[in-house]
Amino acid sequence: KLYEGFRGKHSTIVALETVDSTNAYAVSNDLPPFAVVTAESQTAGRGRSGRKWHSAEGLNLYFSIVLNDIEPQKLLPMNIFAGYILADTLKDIADVKIKWPNDIIAEGKKLAGILMETSFSGGKLEKAVLGIGLNVNIEDFPEDIAWMATSLKKISGRNFIREEILASFMNNLEEKYDDFITGRINLINLWPFYSAFLDKKISLHKDGVKTEYTERGIDAFGCLLAENAYGRPETIVTGDIGYDFC
Ligand code: BTN
Repeated sequence: KLYEGFRGKHSTIVALETVDSTNAYAVSNDLPPFAVVTAESQTAGRGRSGRKWHSAEGLNLYFSIVLNDIEPQKLLPMNIFAGYILADTLKDIADVKIKWPNDIIAEGKKLAGILMETSFSGGKLEKAVLGIGLNVNIEDFPEDIAWMATSLKKISGRNFIREEILASFMNNLEEKYDDFITGRINLINLWPFYSAFLDKKISLHKDGVKTEYTERGIDAFGCLLAENAYGRPETIVTGDIGYDFC
């Protein structure tokens, strides 16, 4: 079985065969901090903005990590931090970059996606769940996403042991986590090394409208700093950068 023998520092690993969504499971079950929920397949894998996450059985990584005690203003930076950890973990396999806020791309296509979900109790942030879908050994994507999706297998031509990738991601995350929380890791300084589009043209899709910008960096809140078509600076809080790359 896939997750047998996976020993991290983390106390709890819930390895499921099939689940609707590892994020949904992690949000609605009582699990300790850093618990990891994994699945071989998801019947209703969730993506950003209500999209579906293609979750082919047994080929990829689908996992969610429980994070407790996060301040609400750390949520967007946490997305970026997770993207940085993933890009850093995969750097020896592929030339991986981040497309704001947290798509992981390689060779101009999407390799992984990150979805943070939260639960509130009495108006207070109770729990944050960091969900990651990483395309590992998949070769054939459904037609509607094949043009913009890739996998480690497609990039490198070889198969990977998924539990090894998960373990190195978790170790990397735990090693750098406290430095991120205390501010010793500065995402603003790291961004130029990881962004796919720094100083490049991007198209931002928001509420059905597409706007063109030049990317200039991120701020301390994880927002995107961009220059609009008139050369004026703007701070972007939400939206999707398109795969049309202007
Ligand atoms: C995106 O739209 O880019 C985010 C995709 C996140 C997918 C992962 S797979 C594991 C976890 N469980 C879910 O239902 N979604 C996330």
